[in-house]
Parts: sequence; C-alpha cells; structure tokens
Amino acid sequence: MSQNIESHQVENRVFPPSSEFSAKAHIGSMEEYERRYRESVADPEAYWADMAGKLHWQQPWNQVLDWSNPPFAKWFVGGRINVCENCVDRHLESRADKTAIIWEGEPGDVRRLSYRELHTAVCRFANALKDQGVASGDRVIIYMPMVPEAAVAMLACARIGAVHSVVFGGFSADSIRDRIQDSGATAVITADGGWRRGSVVPLKDNVDEAIADEPGVKRVIVFRRTEQDISMRDGRDVWWHDAVAGVDDQCPAEGFDSEHPLYILYTSGSTGKPKGILHTSAGYLTGAATTFHDIFDIREDDIYWCTADVGWVTGHSYIVYGPLANGATVLMYEGAPNHPDFGRFWKMVQDHKVTLFYTAPTAIRAFIKAGDQFPEGYDLSSLRLLGSVGEPINPEAWMWYHKVIGGERCPIVDTWWQTETGAILISPLPGATPLKPGTATRPFFGIDAAILDEEGNECGPNEGGRLVIRKPWPSMLRTLWGDDQRFIDTYWNTYENIYVAGDGARTDEDGYFWIVGRLDDVLNVSGHRLGTAEVESALVSHKAVAEAAVVGRPDDIKGQAVVAFVTLKSGIEGDDDLKQELRKHVGKAIGAIAKPDDVVFAAGLPKTRSGKIMRRLLKEISASGTISGDTTTLEDFSVVAALQGGKEE
Ligand code: PRX
Repeated sequence: MSQNIESHQVENRVFPPSSEFSAKAHIGSMEEYERRYRESVADPEAYWADMAGKLHWQQPWNQVLDWSNPPFAKWFVGGRINVCENCVDRHLESRADKTAIIWEGEPGDVRRLSYRELHTAVCRFANALKDQGVASGDRVIIYMPMVPEAAVAMLACARIGAVHSVVFGGFSADSIRDRIQDSGATAVITADGGWRRGSVVPLKDNVDEAIADEPGVKRVIVFRRTEQDISMRDGRDVWWHDAVAGVDDQCPAEGFDSEHPLYILYTSGSTGKPKGILHTSAGYLTGAATTFHDIFDIREDDIYWCTADVGWVTGHSYIVYGPLANGATVLMYEGAPNHPDFGRFWKMVQDHKVTLFYTAPTAIRAFIKAGDQFPEGYDLSSLRLLGSVGEPINPEAWMWYHKVIGGERCPIVDTWWQTETGAILISPLPGATPLKPGTATRPFFGIDAAILDEEGNECGPNEGGRLVIRKPWPSMLRTLWGDDQRFIDTYWNTYENIYVAGDGARTDEDGYFWIVGRLDDVLNVSGHRLGTAEVESALVSHKAVAEAAVVGRPDDIKGQAVVAFVTLKSGIEGDDDLKQELRKHVGKAIGAIAKPDDVVFAAGLPKTRSGKIMRRLLKEISASGTISGDTTTLEDFSVVAALQGGKEE
C-alpha cells in the first residue's frame, strides 16, 4: 500500500438508543461505556480477569497474560477449564428445562433441545467419539448440515479435548481434502446430506471423494438426515445412531489447560493456501461469552437467532460458544433464506418469536431486492435488537433493516471482527451507543483499536489508514496451524507487536470506526472471505489456462462479484462453453461461492516490470470498463488497451 486510503462516505444521521431500551440494558449509557472503556484499556488484564472469573474453572489461573514472547500470547496461564462444561453442564442447576436449541429444518420440521437434553446428547456423543478412538488433541473434521448435531459434535469434541475443524457444507471435496491434510485430522463427522433450496447436498459423497486416498482418516461418523442411499465403507464408516447406541449418558468433563487448542478454522488469505486459524480454550470462551452478553444484551427470556452457518467463525462464536456459555436459547435453521420464498426468515421470526436477530449485509441486500411484501406479511414485533456482520453495511441497507425489519424500534449492532479475532472487537453497545448507519462505532471493552499510517503514527479524524489492535486480547488467534512464520508475517510484521487486521479504516470526529475494506488481495463475497490467489490457483489448474487474475467488482447483492481474467494456453480459443467449464472447475476446487461471476479471456494480463499482476487496474476495468489510475509502473500498456477494448485513455 503506497498511497493513503481515501474515504468519501459522508453520513450525518444519528440514532440514539431509546430511553426504554437503555433503561433495561446491561450497559445503559455512553457515560458508562466511556468510563468502563477507559478503565478496561488502561488495565486490560484486570478487565479480562474479571470477565474470565465469570466462567467455571476447574483450577484457577496464576497469571492473566504471558506476553513475554510476542506475538505468541498465553492467557490465564496455569488455569484448567472445560469449554463444554461451561456451555452445557453449568446451566443444569438453574436452566435444565430451558430450551438451549430450537431447530428448524428446511422442510419445516422443528426440534427443541433443553439444556438437559443437550447435556445428554453431548455426553453420549463424546463417549461415542472416545469409543471410536478419538482422543484429546486429535483433529476432527466436522462437515455437517445445520442440524443440532453439528453443535453437539463441536461441544463433544471440546468436552474430550479433541480439536474440531468445521468445514462449511458448501465447500467441495477438494477443500475438505486440503483441510484434512493440513490439520492431520483422523476422524470426520458428517451426514448423509442436508437440505438446501429443496435439494439434498450430498455431504457424505463429498467426504468419500475427499478421503478416497487419505489413509490418515480412520473413522467417519455419519448422521442420518436426508435418508438417500449412500455408501458406507466397512471398518471406516459408522452411523451416528449406531455409535451412540449403548453408550453411557454421563461423560466427565475433564479440565484442560487454558491454552489447550479448541478449534482450527480455515480462512482465506492473500496466498493460495487457506490459513488454519487456531483458537484455544479459556481466552476464546471469555471473549465470545463476554461480547455476546454485552453486545446482544442477552436476557433470560430472549430467543436469539444468528443466521450464519456453523462452518464460519460467526457460527462458532455466536451460535455455539458465546450464546450457550450465557445459557441463551438459540434458534438454528438448516436451509436457504429464500425457500420456499423470501418470506422464510420472517415467518421463522414470527413463529419462534425471535427477539435478537443477527445476519449479514449480503442477506439484507437480497431481501431488499426481493421486496418489502415478504417481511410485511409477517409479525416481526417480537424483535428487540438486530445485528450485522461480515462486511460494511451500506447506509441505505442499514436504513431498510432499521425501518422494515426493526420497525424503527430495534437498535442495530454492526459488529466488526474476523475469524482471527475470535470475538467481536468493534461494535455499538445497544443501550448506550448512538448509532450512525454504516459504522461499527467504538471498540469493545479491553480492545485497544487504532488507525495507523505507514510510519506507525496514529491517524487523525477522517484520515484513512490501517486498522490495528495494539494490545493482545484473550480470544485472539494463537497462530496459524503448523505455520508460526506465516502467522508472524501475515499479522505482525508491519509494526512492532501490533496486530494488523488487513482492513483499511478511518475514525470520524466521534471516534467511530468506519471500515473501508480489505487492504490485501482478499475478496469479500456475500460476507465471506475469498483469497484471489485461491481462485487463481483453481483456474490455473485447468488444462486450458495459462494464467489468471481474479478481482472483485462491486455488486449490489453480494458486495463483491468475482471477475476472473484468464489467459489461455496457446492454440486454445475461449468461448462460452469454456467459460462455463471454468466456473464449474472453480466450484469443484473450492465451492460454489468461489465461482467467478464473469470470466474475461485476455491475450495478456497487466504486469509491473517485476512481473506482478496489477490487480488494481483489472479492478478498474471490471468496475468501469476503463482505467483512469496511475499506469506508470505498467510493463506493457498494449495489454491494458486490449482489455479496454482498444481504447487508450
Ligand atoms: O473486512 C472485514 C470484514 O470481514 C473481514 C473478516 O472476515 P471473516 O474472517 O470471514 O469474518 C467474518 C465474520 C466475523 C474483516 O477483516 N468485516 C467483518 N465484519 C465487518 C466487516 N467489515 C465492516 N464491518 C463489519 N461489521
């Protein structure tokens, strides 16, 4: 990044919380936020120790933070804790009959699990995992539809100290294989299939393809959901219901070291290989539980619905660990938002009397496009708070969410965070923060967020720079699985001992953070990160392709659409069939979300003299058809001229 980041957005609307909301909220005024924020960043260790103290410990810690070997943090050193016990067993005394999970399948089937039933299900499955040879420290891939058993599987792994790695059900066999190889997983938990837009997603078939040549996977446990025929390999595959038959209902929750690995979650980076983000136990749970409590302002009778999939970090922190650690009632939904039509979410809000609703801007934009008649057909009066996550929410989408879904009564928490951060770091507190459409507002307690320029100086109001976190926080990633050096290089090499998030941002005169977008070669498609390099590698693996460059083009619904510029091998002509074939090829290599929306065949790609592809120019071409930016470092202008259709600017 050689130039400063410009930001041209001006937004003057301010929405203070209603006095009614503030009166009942956990944090009820900006004065209280300011005071607690000041105290918490003056002494983050004291603040986080207070928060961690709310969890159930089997052995107390003797040091809050060990930051003697940055960037490798250790939190709550010497403590022993069981994450699953904190999310489940701890509630048996006062909330045994309270509903933990309300689940709705896409066909409309509904199940409810009380905390007692969740406890039994988790204990039984934990015992089954042990019977199947899974032990503490083993890595387990979870590739499941959105059914309660996905949460049960995660919690059961946590209970016995196995490290789960959830792979989003929309990912392909190749993506599963990559994650198995990188994590060294020995077991896979999956299902025959899941329902998506009226069709079966063939999860077990994908697993079979992924592990055909992976002798390291000793066991595949298969939950029966869609009931189509699948193949089961003798000696390797076992049905979930058979694995839990006859096992004990009780499974002791052994205490693990605070820093025991809890999960690995793969996310895109700017090079081809996905990064295995490692989260550990006590600090992660402290972050997820505390932020969930304050930001969603959880109360005993709330019905909370986060529409994310458990395959993303949002599903980890804000469907499973954060809400359950707070004893909340969580709604889970299996299927698509538009099945049978775009009224599905709003019907579910009405039917289950949802009070807290958390979704992504891409979904909001799709609902806006579908039309107000869908939400207007349902009673949304149960809602009292809305949330947004995954990318900047456009102010107009914010206004629609506020008016049409929130009835102008619900605060919106626009939560900024990342797979790496484990928990929300920047967000309004709904009873305190005056809201402005489009900004995640102020940092959470204990989070020392700032915007720095290239030299490391703090930027003034409305000056764009890099978003950084200057002090460690408990739910931060600990490393990239098996690659400490990449961890250092990716996040810690710009400034000394300061975490660089990879987002450009500015603060306004009120100290509110406005996220401008990613600074690296990472796309944000429908709220999910996609590395341009990953998609490029997938394209280049096709026999017709010599070289490829992928960029994002602004898109009304998805935030960014994927545009692929492709140079073919000599003698090969590009046509529509090949475009379709390449889209399919990428879908197979990564998953449907990565399929390029446009494929542009080009005789050459614009490069710098040192041979780096100038994606900036391709971005301009894909957005506007021409180039007005600086082309002085371009090696061969004729390449760009050809891409612009022969017009030299
Ligand atoms: O660019 C930011 C954007 O999403 C990135 C993190 O992506 P991921 O790890 O997939 O996690 C998504 C869910 C936590 C960030 O670097 N992002 C996330 N939330 C927001 C956001 N950008 C602006 N506003 C947000 N609220």
